[in-house]
Amino acid sequence: MSFDRIARHYEWIESVVFGADLQRIRCSHMETFLRAESILLLGDGDGRFLKALLDSGCSAQIICVDSSQRMLKLAESLTKDSGQNIHFVFSKIQDYHLPPSFIPDVIGAHFFFDCFSEDEILVILGRISSWCRKQTKLIVSDFSIPEEQSLRRFIAKVLVWKMIIFFRIFTDISARKLPKIGKLLSKMRYKCLKKVTLRDGFLCSWIWQL
Ligand SMILES: C[S@@+](CC[C@H](N)C(=O)[O-])C[C@H]1O[C@@H](n2cnc3c(N)ncnc32)[C@H](O)[C@@H]1O
Repeated sequence: MSFDRIARHYEWIESVVFGADLQRIRCSHMETFLRAESILLLGDGDGRFLKALLDSGCSAQIICVDSSQRMLKLAESLTKDSGQNIHFVFSKIQDYHLPPSFIPDVIGAHFFFDCFSEDEILVILGRISSWCRKQTKLIVSDFSIPEEQSLRRFIAKVLVWKMIIFFRIFTDISARKLPKIGKLLSKMRYKCLKKVTLRDGFLCSWIWQL
């Protein structure tokens, strides 16, 4: 899987389909990020969330892990004037070893888990759990299909289906359907502390804690 091919196009494609809503949902728990002294960002992509975080006054130590060299380069160039010491790491999260001295207060994963199958997510969550301490919050933003039968559910399913086909063709993601992220986190004993939604529940951002 590599997002290199679409890295430069990611922002405009997103704004054509969702306007500013994905960025709004990424930033919906900004106050929790701003209270953190150490932040680990998983698959943060082209750096727009990171820039918003820094522009909001974040002074935490930040590690960004992404498996796309081009995404990391975009994020680096977007945030180079911040003067902040951000550690960009080119690695798959499955292979990454967090420095033992880095205890994340917040782990952020925006539109990251939807790249994987549910089995892969359980493995990744196992890794993440080993990095969590009592105070660590896991902030996850992603799509969610409304439960009840309705036109909204139908439209959400069609849109997700199109996105998965697009990403499978251009980035070779392993997800074949939208993973039930909330269910997987609950299975791994995470508790949901807060949830924010947009577009009638299609876009969600949760704060989880072990
Ligand atoms: C769908 S994009 C999301 C980007 C950004 N977080 C956002 O909110 O739009 C998924 C990101 O995860 C990265 N990624 C995919 N698989 C990964 C892996 N195994 N380890 C680390 N990063 C990965 C991709 O390179 C890409 O930047």
